[in-house]
Amino acid sequence: MRGRFSSSPLRRTCTLSMAQESSALQGELGITLYRIVQECLTNISRHAEAGNVQISVSQQPMCVELSVHDDGRGFDPRVAGHGFGLLGIRERVKALGGSCDIESASGGGTTIVAQMPLSAQSGRR
Ligand SMILES: Nc1ncnc2c1ncn2[C@@H]1O[C@H](COP(=O)(O)OP(=O)(O)OP(=O)(O)O)[C@@H](O)[C@H]1O
Ligand SMILES: [Mg+2]
Repeated sequence: MRGRFSSSPLRRTCTLSMAQESSALQGELGITLYRIVQECLTNISRHAEAGNVQISVSQQPMCVELSVHDDGRGFDPRVAGHGFGLLGIRERVKALGGSCDIESASGGGTTIVAQMPLSAQSGRR
């Protein structure tokens, strides 16, 4: 499934790519995926000045991988200020036994990749 969304007047294009039927979108794992995308889009809107955003969800036999990429101004993740958003993403992923990688550089855009085990989907909150 692919979707394209534009937000004028900034003319930012957001592309979503994921399998049409994804069991990852259930339970605790689904909530976590939703919250991570929500925080990433908030950050992109507030900080990135990006023209393009790509979100992809890919499911493998044992895990699901979420990637959120923007082509905005980037930042140095080692000196990323005092917000709670990125910290919250890391903690949510860790709580499900997954791993999270934040790649960014000044002027070079930002890519956040989170991998989480599919066994986390059965959890309830
Ligand atoms: N996509 C992005 N593009 C550019 N800079 C970013 C991006 N995401 C985060 N940042 C930078 O990293 C910092 C930390 O992000 P984080 O989400 O943790 O905090 P915040 O957005 O400043 O505040 P909060 O999320 O607590 O409301 C931001 O202040 C910003 O400087
Ligand atoms: Mg934030």
